[in-house]
Amino acid sequence: NEIYLGGLADVRPDLPTDLTRLAALAERRLSAASYGYLAGAAGSEATARANRDAFDRWRIVPRMLRDVAERDLSVTVLGTPMPAPVVLAPIGVQSILHPDAELATARAAASTGLTSILSTAASSTMEDVAEAGGSGPRWYQLYWPKDRDLAASFLGRAEAAGYTALVVTLDTFTLAWRPRDLDQAYLPFLRGIGVANYFSDPVFQRAVGGPVTEENRQAALLHWIGQFGNPSLTWDDLAFLREHWDGPIALKGIQHPDDARRALDAGMDGVIVSNHGGRQVDGAIASLDALPLVADAVGGRMSVLFDSGIRTGADVVKALALGAEAVLLGRPYAYGLALGGEAGVRHVLRCIQAELELTLALSGHRTISELTLDALVRA
Ligand code: FNR
Repeated sequence: NEIYLGGLADVRPDLPTDLTRLAALAERRLSAASYGYLAGAAGSEATARANRDAFDRWRIVPRMLRDVAERDLSVTVLGTPMPAPVVLAPIGVQSILHPDAELATARAAASTGLTSILSTAASSTMEDVAEAGGSGPRWYQLYWPKDRDLAASFLGRAEAAGYTALVVTLDTFTLAWRPRDLDQAYLPFLRGIGVANYFSDPVFQRAVGGPVTEENRQAALLHWIGQFGNPSLTWDDLAFLREHWDGPIALKGIQHPDDARRALDAGMDGVIVSNHGGRQVDGAIASLDALPLVADAVGGRMSVLFDSGIRTGADVVKALALGAEAVLLGRPYAYGLALGGEAGVRHVLRCIQAELELTLALSGHRTISELTLDALVRA
């Protein structure tokens, strides 16, 4: 209502309410390196396109006269109550996009009550981000480093800073072939941002012989790159997570129902059906196409979340109808950050929530739990 009624006071939103238009705006305003980092994907970017195309193959079938006057979008996922089933995806190195970076994102999320997931590769420390988010709900995303002590230190710090659920990203033990970043020589990364959680860590500092200063910065960066991810991990290693994390754990990057079953067998609490926004395996299945099979395999027995391609409220409705408990919003809020800092992120979150509520009600549903496969047809 606030967004609609702004018109009465001749107040236009600063940013487009059609979130698909944010990318074009960002392309005009950001440097090529920053824009390429955010918009880019792996290889020919076929999977990034497939992620979007998959939504067009499903259509919502509106139902009438079902008393939708009272709507309730709230859900509880991995123990966290949420005003709407929308979570801010972990996006690393946000200082590439805006100087306020993850602090702005945390503040915007907290002001809407939505949960945000902080990346290990954040440009601010997890403690500073927690402070910025105040009492807002927060989850921590682990990039699982080679050094077990460092991984354990990250998990201990995250728990102490009030992150209540752990998201472990499995699909990025190394960065994929990303031409836009390669063409820019990974400039923002080489300037040494996005390593705050590492450089501030006592285990990391011990490994590089003390606090990171100008003198040992180059060596510290090389150490960071060398041990960012661990390609040798197997399902047996998940026991380590349980030993070091008391709260719920979700595995991010699941695309095959058998992997979801294995996650369930390993005692995980959830999976996030995701292909990292098409940034890892070019030519991979569209994430939305993977969702119904995963939901069939484990839905009801563990939490199933979804990301990769969500741009509108209608997209959220489709993902929920196909079996997700909640979705992660990725690039759209990052475009909001790049274009307007904290206010830009808040704009995006408000728009997606409002559009979700309208689409839910106009298609004949009052609550999220009413959304089932019956709401859709294959186009
Ligand atoms: C990401 N993503 C990501 N995921 C993660 O687990 N840790 C991270 O640090 C990052 N960093 C990151 C940076 C940028 C610029 C993007 C676009 C994405 C992946 C992210 O969490 C999510 O899976 C995708 O963004 C979903 O795809 P869409 O909706 O952005 O297309």
